[in-house]
Amino acid sequence: MPSITASAFTSALSQAANGVSVVTTSHDNMEAGLTVSSMCSVCADPALLLVCVNLDNEFCALADQSGRFAVNILPSHCMELAIVFAGLGEHPEQSRFETGAWTTLSTGAPILSNALVALDCEVDSSLAKGTHRIFFGKVVDVRTTSGEPLLYTDRRFAVVEPVPL
Ligand SMILES: Cc1cc2nc3c(=O)[nH]c(=O)nc-3n(C[C@H](O)[C@H](O)[C@H](O)COP(=O)(O)O)c2cc1C
Repeated sequence: MPSITASAFTSALSQAANGVSVVTTSHDNMEAGLTVSSMCSVCADPALLLVCVNLDNEFCALADQSGRFAVNILPSHCMELAIVFAGLGEHPEQSRFETGAWTTLSTGAPILSNALVALDCEVDSSLAKGTHRIFFGKVVDVRTTSGEPLLYTDRRFAVVEPVPL
């Protein structure tokens, strides 16, 4: 069976529209976080979600050690934060958390104060696949607000434009 190239794969999937989250963890006074579009729900009972993180990212080792992480779903006005946590801005990696206001919920993982939704998770399990690790998170706490989500499609950020019915 023929296979496709990585660039054909990423180019095809770039056409999908995804929400944008910053996934964070902390352990022993160290914090790690990155912008992701891979977060999705696994099942509601038990409340499980997943996120795929590149094996090179320091998040992987820190989440292993702490056994916790948080998914901060970004509102549409947080594009700058998404850029910082994707390593695309001028900010050095160590100072990412100087952008935004941070708090904690139950597990102690960093929660963005103005996240559209914050999902506080214990690491349930993880699975390495190719270049990435899939982290399954058991959601132990949640904080929701109202507003519009930030989206990513066609390799750029976008906002929701509701379609009148
Ligand atoms: C919109 C968007 C979505 C992203 N989604 C993911 C993702 O799901 N998983 C991932 O590992 N990296 C993802 N990235 C890339 C990471 O954010 C980026 O590689 C990481 O922040 C670099 O971190 P480092 O400088 O700590 O290595 C995404 C980037 C952007 C802009």
